[in-house]
This record gives sequence, structure tokens and C-alpha cells, in this order.
Amino acid sequence: MFITFEGLDNSGKSTQVQMLAEHLTRKGHRVLVLREPGGTEIGERIRTMLLDKNNISMTEASELFLFSASRSQLVKEIIKPALEGGMAVLCDRYYDSTTAYQGWGRGISLEVIAAINRYASDNLVPDITFLLDIPIKEIEKRILRAKKNNDRMESSGLEFYERVRNGYLDLAKKESRYRLLDALQTVDDIHDAIWEILAPSIEKHIEIENEKKI
Ligand code: TYD
Repeated sequence: MFITFEGLDNSGKSTQVQMLAEHLTRKGHRVLVLREPGGTEIGERIRTMLLDKNNISMTEASELFLFSASRSQLVKEIIKPALEGGMAVLCDRYYDSTTAYQGWGRGISLEVIAAINRYASDNLVPDITFLLDIPIKEIEKRILRAKKNNDRMESSGLEFYERVRNGYLDLAKKESRYRLLDALQTVDDIHDAIWEILAPSIEKHIEIENEKKI
């Protein structure tokens, strides 16, 4: 199974990815956790370039191609082989981030983005995508609370985030693989909701594995 997590920065995605990975591992599944951009040697170098605040002259097209280049490495080198080997792959962001951030956020043509997403991902579509939806006001609070130095992407402003959020909500409406979660709930409640959604497919997987053993 290929499961992706999407949402704005500080929406709590990474915590949920870790909790789900631990839960799946306890149930005996082999799990691989990844995050975008990065995850390969080339991808990590691209990540540094993308998040570096000194790269103020980066064009929107460069940004789009760099995120996509990192993804291409990750799909070919890591994700596809892992899925073929029977692992569950959990990815913190995938090509919907490009649709939401570069498409809705920066304003690049959604048609262009869809074509590049398909190409860079080698047509690999997630089985299920969890969207942790959060109001912009709450994001603002969390950024202030964290008091960390914002990276290049995080310096794009709240109006940018509003557009990105709308992009995600549009994807959630259109794509049947989407499951919308309220990120204002407690960490445990969000995890329970995720587990409840996944439980039927996980049980089915266990049945199939057991049948193979018989
Ligand atoms: P990261 O520190 O990994 O943020 P997070 O923990 O929120 O995922 O930085 C990734 C940043 O890159 C984040 O601001 C979202 C952005 N991004 C895009 O703009 N397009 C993309 O295709 C991807 C994968 C990420």
C-alpha cells in the first residue's frame, strides 16, 4: 500500500506519519517512512537548494522542476522497489503538494503541473491520501509558537497559504483516494480516525498473507 499525507506546514502531518508507522509495525507490517523533498542522495541535495532562504532568485519554474526532480529519484530508487517488495510506504507529501503549492499557491498552470506530476512520478498514484486540513489562523499561531527561523517556502506569506489550502480542499473534492481530516482534533483522535479508515484494507491484506501461508 502506498499512503501519502498532505497538508500545510505545521498541520501535524509528520506526527501522524510516525504514529501510523509505529502502529503498522506493531501489527507486524514492514513499513517504510519517507518525506518529500529528499529521501535519496540527489533528493537531499535538491532539498537543501529548495529550502535555502538565500536562493531568493529561484524562478517558479525552477522550483517546480526541482521538487519534481527530487520526486523522480524517490519513486524510481526507493518507492517502487519497496512496494514491489511488499512494504507499506508512507510518504510525508507527494505530488499533490506540487499541485497545491506550485499550482494553487504560485499560480503555475494546473494542466502543466498535472503533466509534470505524471511524468516525474512515473504514473505512480497513491492508494490513499490523508489531508490534514487546518485553518490559516491556526497555522499563524503555530508558526509564532514554534518561533523557529522560517525556511524559503515558509516565508511565502499567509495569503499564499490560503491559496494552498483551497487547492488541497479542491483536490479532496475531486480525488476519490482523498480522506479529509480535521487537524484541530487531538493527535490521538486524528490517529484513531486514520486507523479506522485503514483497518478494513489492512485486515484484508492480513487475510491474503495468511492464505498464502496455508
Ligand atoms: P518541510 O520542512 O519538509 O515541511 P513540512 O514538514 O511541512 O512537509 O518543507 C517542505 C516545504 O516544501 C513545504 O513548505 C512544502 C513545500 N513543497 C512544495 O512547495 N512543493 C512540493 O512538491 C513539495 C513536496 C513540498
